[in-house]
Amino acid sequence: MPQRWAPDSWRSRPAKQLPEYPDPAALARVERQLATFPPLVFAGEARSLKRALGRVAAGNAFLLQGGDCAESFAEHGADNIRDFFRVFLQMAVVLTYAAASPVVKLGRIAGEFAKPRSSPTETRDGKELPSYRGDIINDIEFTAEARTPDPHRQLEAYRQCAATLNLLRAFAQGGYANLGSVHQWMLGSIKDSPQSRRYLELANRISEALGFMRACGLDLESHPELKTTDFYTSHEGLLLPYEQALTRVDSTSGDWYCTSGHLLWIGDRTRQADGAHVEFCRGIKNPLGLKCGPSLKPEELIRLIDILNPDNEPGRLTLICRFGAEKLGEHLPALLRAVKREGKVVVWSCDPMHGNTIISASGYKTRPFDLILQEVKSFFAAHAAEGTYAGGVHLEMTGQDVTECTGGARAITDAELNDRYHTFCDPRLNAEQSIDLAFLLAELLKTERTAQHKPLPAAAAL
Ligand code: TRP
Ligand code: MN
Repeated sequence: MPQRWAPDSWRSRPAKQLPEYPDPAALARVERQLATFPPLVFAGEARSLKRALGRVAAGNAFLLQGGDCAESFAEHGADNIRDFFRVFLQMAVVLTYAAASPVVKLGRIAGEFAKPRSSPTETRDGKELPSYRGDIINDIEFTAEARTPDPHRQLEAYRQCAATLNLLRAFAQGGYANLGSVHQWMLGSIKDSPQSRRYLELANRISEALGFMRACGLDLESHPELKTTDFYTSHEGLLLPYEQALTRVDSTSGDWYCTSGHLLWIGDRTRQADGAHVEFCRGIKNPLGLKCGPSLKPEELIRLIDILNPDNEPGRLTLICRFGAEKLGEHLPALLRAVKREGKVVVWSCDPMHGNTIISASGYKTRPFDLILQEVKSFFAAHAAEGTYAGGVHLEMTGQDVTECTGGARAITDAELNDRYHTFCDPRLNAEQSIDLAFLLAELLKTERTAQHKPLPAAAAL
């Protein structure tokens, strides 16, 4: 019998990666305040995302999930959000057109503030302080005061999420995402880059196709699907006091939804079946993600799926695999087989970022673009071999021209990492590297989707 669930039932379970607030009374006051704030997203939207992910699970769409490793208070601004959204749209349109696949657009944004850390403390020059855990918890500056967890930062994070979401909704629904603007999205971000010609060609073909349909008598203005797009938000559901405070009963269904984002995922470090994070997530009706790393055993995964998706509801659960290019072959096939054998409906997504992090010779935390590509390719190959569907990717990326991952079309070197290394946490793909990857994904996806469908009859047989 499943045990009773309540928004606070996680509190009686062991919880990893939660900060210790020195002033619990101040935390409780913030939680009470957050609980009175309006929801950031609506239950109906979370349900639409779940339906869309259900189409991915069935092999009829592709999931594109991406954004910063960690959002920050300091870098919050309209230009940043616009630049991210623009690159994201470019990637989505490359996938939609080149692979003729609908794309579910899911930002890792408007909530990605809390970071799990490998060590609770950090030592510099003999001085030991609490680790930086994301702007919603403490400050990155290396002083005792800055590193002390402060609950009021949750209020600031909420405010920033609301502002970010407001702009994203305007971009997605208010005209910016119009397919007729496909050329405008490239201005600025990838101009003069090795990818620009390729993108320009694709944009020209889309404009031609729209022109053709117009000439055929189709009134493009009367088709909102050409002018708008559905854009959803996601983040790791790590900071449970905050997530609980934003969890509400949906009046139409009577179900609980966490209204801090459309999808919440459980990290690889907090996915213990009897732990607080799994307990919290099992009771909310949002679509969920689960990070799967090398230490996850097939039987453990099946147990987690039973807890998180007992009704085997399509779209409820996305398994985000992050093994590392070299380890994927050793771990993923066994998981694919177990899930298939048990008849579980899931979305399989590839996070080629987190398993490929290295420290460069110059001392930067970086990710070689080649390893990222290799993991994505191996992911598709493993699915082809098992007859399962590689349904999506999960990327750490930015619309800015940063130098955080080495390689790519412009071959960023170790020595160049220092030029524009801006991330608050993990290294992100820059705009060019992101679009580069989208073209590669489009090829892989096209092959996968063609292989899935019955071959066309030979010309002679027609
Ligand atoms: N509405 C469709 C979709 O979201 C088509 C579309 C409109 C689109 N604007 C877009 C696709 C921008 C990709 C990018 O898929
Ligand atoms: Mn990260």
